[in-house]
Amino acid sequence: MSGRTATDLRLGVNIDHVATIRNARGGDHPDPVRAAEMAAAAGANGITAHLREDRRHIRDHDIERLMGEIDLPLNLEMAATEEMLAIALRHRPHAVCIVPERREEVTTEGGLDAAGQHNHLKSFVTRLTDVGIRVSLFINADALQLQAAVSLGAPVVELHTGAYAHAGDEGDAAKFAAELERLAASAHAGAAMGLEVHAGHGLTFDNVSAVAALREIRELNIGHFLIGEAIFDGLPATIARMRDLMDKARAEARP
Ligand code: PXP
Repeated sequence: MSGRTATDLRLGVNIDHVATIRNARGGDHPDPVRAAEMAAAAGANGITAHLREDRRHIRDHDIERLMGEIDLPLNLEMAATEEMLAIALRHRPHAVCIVPERREEVTTEGGLDAAGQHNHLKSFVTRLTDVGIRVSLFINADALQLQAAVSLGAPVVELHTGAYAHAGDEGDAAKFAAELERLAASAHAGAAMGLEVHAGHGLTFDNVSAVAALREIRELNIGHFLIGEAIFDGLPATIARMRDLMDKARAEARP
């Protein structure tokens, strides 16, 4: 991903929930592509969008427009299905992040079982990488899953920060520290295995700094909090503040 960055930590802005609000009324407003333009101007390095099987937020036409109208690289999140693969191969986004998807879930609740689904995932990773799409696997911070990513030939993993974020929301300091430690260990191990390590899910102004300080993490993907906070402070100011918190944490992190 390119873009303005004071440090080597990139910010991918997930715009799914602009589409959630749009879809609540069935019209065209608010437009997620306009949000992507604003995110680019405010310091995002990439745009992330999850095309779900049920199209509850981002829709096919949004992907087409994001590819055509936005200068930043697109990270398309998708389940490993033939339908989604065909869409990715047609649009050729910069990156595809393969995520687990269950129809009844509110959001992507856990990481992909890359180890358990090795045979199913292998052909998806191969067919995407063969055409030059950078493939990332959204996994829990777990050694087995990191090894599976390497054996699948995925160049990138995104560590699921949901358990870490949730522990913070619940005020469970011990679990929060343990989950951060798990993220730190996996970021370190993943980088040592040659993987590019990203992270995301549930990140906010309050919990982003400790994750941003993990030097092996190269990119954070953040959505729901940014779009929600933008209601109060506007999208540019919200993204700029997140960027500043990330850059400050990174600059002050242990070498
Ligand atoms: N990364 C991945 C792979 C995701 O699936 C999501 C949620 O769609 C995010 C990051 C962003 O999570 P949040 O919206 O909680 O910031």
